[in-house]
Amino acid sequence: MKVLFTGGLGYIGSHTAVEVLNEGFDVVIVDNLSNSKIGVLDTIKKLTGKDVGFYQIDVCDKDALEKVFQENPDIFAVIHFAGYKAVGESVREPLMYYENNMISTFNLLRMMEKYNCKNIIFSSSATVYAQSEIMPLEETFPLAATNPYGRTKLFNEHVLIDYQNVHKDTNVILLRYFNPIGAHDSGLLGEDPNGIPNNLMPYICKVAVGELDHLNVFGNDYKTKDGTGVRDYIHVVDLADGHVKALQKVVREPETGLKIYNLGTGVGYSVLDIVNTFNEVNGDLVKYEIAARRPGDIDECYASSKLAEEEIGFKATKTLADMCRSSYEYQKNNKKK
Ligand code: NAD
Ligand code: UD1
Repeated sequence: MKVLFTGGLGYIGSHTAVEVLNEGFDVVIVDNLSNSKIGVLDTIKKLTGKDVGFYQIDVCDKDALEKVFQENPDIFAVIHFAGYKAVGESVREPLMYYENNMISTFNLLRMMEKYNCKNIIFSSSATVYAQSEIMPLEETFPLAATNPYGRTKLFNEHVLIDYQNVHKDTNVILLRYFNPIGAHDSGLLGEDPNGIPNNLMPYICKVAVGELDHLNVFGNDYKTKDGTGVRDYIHVVDLADGHVKALQKVVREPETGLKIYNLGTGVGYSVLDIVNTFNEVNGDLVKYEIAARRPGDIDECYASSKLAEEEIGFKATKTLADMCRSSYEYQKNNKKK
């Protein structure tokens, strides 16, 4: 069975490609390399011993995408990872975000409609949830987005739900990821953002290898156990497994319809938990200073993944120590020379 990955050379897509190939599916990747490197393709092949189809195209280029569907008339499912994901950049360049993240989805759905592809799994985010006093977040909780990036995720969810509403024989699974960190055990795949990272674990890793001096902890006066922000960090390989489980569901149950699942661990860790665990498992490498709050941040956010566990058998198994160890291993391999 052939699965089309959009954005399949990126951080989450590449880890998912490895797991999906290892489960015996065929994989075709399309990626425009706007936030990834072509070398990742060889790494995926090397780690799995499998061949992988690849097109360097922009999903917003409808003609180029159509060629992929023409040349692969047997695409069983699409996993749609392609998109821009930096919140701050989305505030500065809203049109760029709306264009890329929305037009890519419109084009994909048009092609699925035309070439009779009946399954799509979409990369959504915990960011679609409205602020809540109640934790853990369940899939039925109110939704609201506070920045252009978040709105593209929310709008995409609506577009996919509306599409499924009139294409009842199409299965749509929206996966709301919490905070993916960690890297493949081989140390060959991982996350390596350009420039100074915005997100916590990439920043910590760059401090650990000496590329940045120290971590600024954004606020220690939140309503949490130690005052620092609490999030639901999930190992990217566990997250990848969530996609395998979603694919297996639509294989098993062709009448799945619309499903929405949180992918998290259900456990919240604070910024200081992360720093302390990182230092415990990797050696005392990360110094930090308490700094001002980052605008827009919330006290805590963690998932209920009960629904995904009950309906698709998803359960995160890796520990925070695994996440810290593998993130650092990958960063060491990618240390700027
Ligand atoms: P990433 O940037 O590493 O991967 C995205 C990939 O898509 C990149 O390889 C990029 O080159 C490609 N791409 C972007 N626009 C494209 C286009 N128009 N045509 C073809 N390729 C295109 O990001 P990631 O962390 O792997 O995230 C994957 C998806 O998951 C994104 O949609 C993101 O919004 C979503 N998500 C990520 C996180 C996170 O924390 N990483 C959390 C929630 C949701
Ligand atoms: C980020 C995204 C959000 C996405 C979510 C899940 C931003 C602004 N938001 O949110 O859209 O849905 O990931 O992937 O990018 N922190 C520091 N110092 C740092 C960096 C972060 O103290 O240098 C703290 C933050 O205040 C927060 C925690 O670490 O409490 C996690 O931050 P981050 O990794 O950016 O993730 P989120 O804020 O959850």
